[in-house]
Amino acid sequence: MIPIATRPPLPALLALLGALLPGPGGAQTSVHPKEAIIPQGGSVWVNCSASCDQHADLGLETHLTKKQVASGFNWVTYELSGIEEDSSSICFANCRSVQTEASMSLTVYSFPEHVELQPLPHWQPVGENLTLHCQVKGGRPRAHLSVMLLRGEELLTQQPAVGEPAEVMTTVLAGRDDHGTDFFCRTELNLQSQGLGLFQNSSVPRQLRTFVLPKVHPRLTAPRIMEVGTQWLVNCTLDGLFPASEAQVLLALEDQRLEPTVEYSKDSLWATAWVKVTPEEKGIQHLTCAVILGNQTQWTQEKVTIYSFPAPNLTLSESEVPEGTMVSVECKAHAGAVVTLSGASAGTPAPSAQFMLNASAEDNERTFLCSAALEVAGKVLHKNKTQTLLVLYGPRLDERDCPGNWTWEEDSQQTLKCQAWGNPVPKLDCHRKVDGALLPIGDLRRVMRNMSGTYICKATSRLGVVKREVVVNVIHLQNNIVTTVIILVAVLVISSIVGIAAYLYNRQRKIREYKLQKAQAAAAMKLNTPP
Ligand SMILES: *[C@@H]1O[C@H](CO)[C@@H](O)[C@H](O)[C@H]1NC(C)=O
Ligand SMILES: *[C@@H]1O[C@H](CO)[C@@H](O)[C@H](O)[C@H]1NC(C)=O
Ligand SMILES: *[C@@H]1O[C@H](CO)[C@@H](O)[C@H](O)[C@H]1NC(C)=O
Ligand SMILES: *[C@@H]1O[C@H](CO)[C@@H](O)[C@H](O)[C@H]1NC(C)=O
Ligand SMILES: *[C@@H]1O[C@H](CO)[C@@H](O)[C@H](O)[C@H]1NC(C)=O
Ligand SMILES: *[C@@H]1O[C@H](CO)[C@@H](O)[C@H](O)[C@H]1NC(C)=O
Ligand SMILES: *[C@@H]1O[C@H](CO)[C@@H](O)[C@H](O)[C@H]1NC(C)=O
Ligand SMILES: *[C@@H]1O[C@H](CO)[C@@H](O)[C@H](O)[C@H]1NC(C)=O
Ligand SMILES: *[C@@H]1O[C@H](CO)[C@@H](O)[C@H](O)[C@H]1NC(C)=O
Ligand SMILES: *[C@@H]1O[C@H](CO)[C@@H](O)[C@H](O)[C@H]1NC(C)=O
Repeated sequence: MIPIATRPPLPALLALLGALLPGPGGAQTSVHPKEAIIPQGGSVWVNCSASCDQHADLGLETHLTKKQVASGFNWVTYELSGIEEDSSSICFANCRSVQTEASMSLTVYSFPEHVELQPLPHWQPVGENLTLHCQVKGGRPRAHLSVMLLRGEELLTQQPAVGEPAEVMTTVLAGRDDHGTDFFCRTELNLQSQGLGLFQNSSVPRQLRTFVLPKVHPRLTAPRIMEVGTQWLVNCTLDGLFPASEAQVLLALEDQRLEPTVEYSKDSLWATAWVKVTPEEKGIQHLTCAVILGNQTQWTQEKVTIYSFPAPNLTLSESEVPEGTMVSVECKAHAGAVVTLSGASAGTPAPSAQFMLNASAEDNERTFLCSAALEVAGKVLHKNKTQTLLVLYGPRLDERDCPGNWTWEEDSQQTLKCQAWGNPVPKLDCHRKVDGALLPIGDLRRVMRNMSGTYICKATSRLGVVKREVVVNVIHLQNNIVTTVIILVAVLVISSIVGIAAYLYNRQRKIREYKLQKAQAAAAMKLNTPP
């Protein structure tokens, strides 16, 4: 073996000479295979042979580990092993003291040991460019190694692997369809021309999540003012979301988080929450609705004025008084509100109003209204309170509601109206002066002759008794009817008599005329009859 490291140019020179000047008797050295591709760390058998008419000295010059595994006349087979790098080796033969050579080359191949697609953004906005990076370590021969980036099974780019580690990148426009799609990186070692085939290695896939959060504020609907102690429903909606179901909503009154009920539709979201207003929150508060999707947020804030407005206190010095008593009516509102009190003279608006009243019968069941007004965020609110005064009076019986003179026709239907007034309501009864017979008040009755007379009506309550005389006259129509009937009968009788008399007279006259005619006829016959 010629030490190749110390005299590198010599084998090349000899090879050239050998090729140009074939040895005596056509002596020639050959090697098989001339080229080989082997996996890294693998081994190969190399057969060196010489065409020489006598025994030739054969050898293989290599820096690889070699072992003679077989030999014959003018051939030797070596095993080369532990091949980590591409290399070349030279077979040489000395035939008749002439050396000829043949070289062979070895190419090592290996699969990439590391193929990785760099992490994708947690969320990718739709319509923005996404850059994919792939890193490949190892793998050769590089001339046969390429790197592909894929979206699902769609090839985005295929580039040769350059550098160590090799980096390949490409940009894609993220779309809605990319939501949930796997991206990955794949290497391809193409050794088909070497008769070995196509070797692929893939990275672990990475799933992309894309989203759309429109650049508009959510629509927040809430009352502008809220009263302490009440609760309100507030709504917050946003349309055009993708994927809507992944969106989150945050509803808060100042820093108090509300618990919204969220409903999702195809591309929108609708959140509703109850706001319970406590006295501690009095004043101007901010209601916020935020919609969070991907790594973005859209929010809206509304001002809400929280107020406290108790109804005014309306008090009567006494709620039930005898007639003629002075009663005070007073209305007081809470600070900030002004009151209007019915019955009081209208003055400048003030937080309280009052007046005195000499209670009369007309004031019984009179209702007083106190209306308090408060301005909250430019809006005037009213709260009302009413009180009813009861005045004790009576009993009373007067001409208007209990007439003292009733005149009715007998047998007509009449309602006896007599109303006594008072608080408490008096008991009323009417008795006939002469016999104490009771007059039925308030019923629909047939008037009878025996109802007439003078009655004493008496209204009684615990406040006293009042009496009133009521005269009932019943008109008897019977006499008139008899007269009419008699006249009618008389007329009938007279007309009948006259009629009959006229008839009889007429009939007598006709009979007489007939008899006369008969006599005249008989006389004429006697004259005409021949004797
Ligand atoms: C080596 O080559 C020679 C000449 O071509 C041949 O005769 C011999 O059989 C070969 N040896 C092996 C082991 O292939
Ligand atoms: C959201 O993510 C994208 C892509 O990763 C990034 O460009 C953007 O700055 C992020 N936006 C926010 C508000 O964090
Ligand atoms: C995305 O990248 C392409 C080229 O790679 C460019 O033409 C396009 O304007 C980019 N789009 C956006 C939204 O940045
Ligand atoms: C690469 O692919 C080959 C076959 O295609 C396989 O034998 C090898 O184990 C793969 N390498 C890795 C790191 O997955
Ligand atoms: C919120 O939605 C509910 C149900 O549709 C509705 O009754 C309520 O009035 C809405 N609230 C506001 C403040 O719009
Ligand atoms: C209240 O009115 C009654 C009757 O009108 C009168 O007699 C009485 O004196 C009045 N009382 C007062 C305190 O004015
Ligand atoms: C109204 O009455 C209630 C209870 O009687 C009392 O607590 C409140 O302070 C009163 N309001 C005013 C304005 O006087
Ligand atoms: C209270 O009274 C005022 C004035 O009379 C009236 O305008 C308002 O409608 C009333 N409010 C209520 C709730 O009854
Ligand atoms: C009652 O009325 C009748 C007729 O309507 C009248 O003739 C009579 O004088 C009146 N009596 C009294 C007491 O008013
Ligand atoms: C009138 O007469 C009827 C019977 O005809 C009798 O039932 C009724 O009680 C009498 N009424 C009075 C007030 O006398």
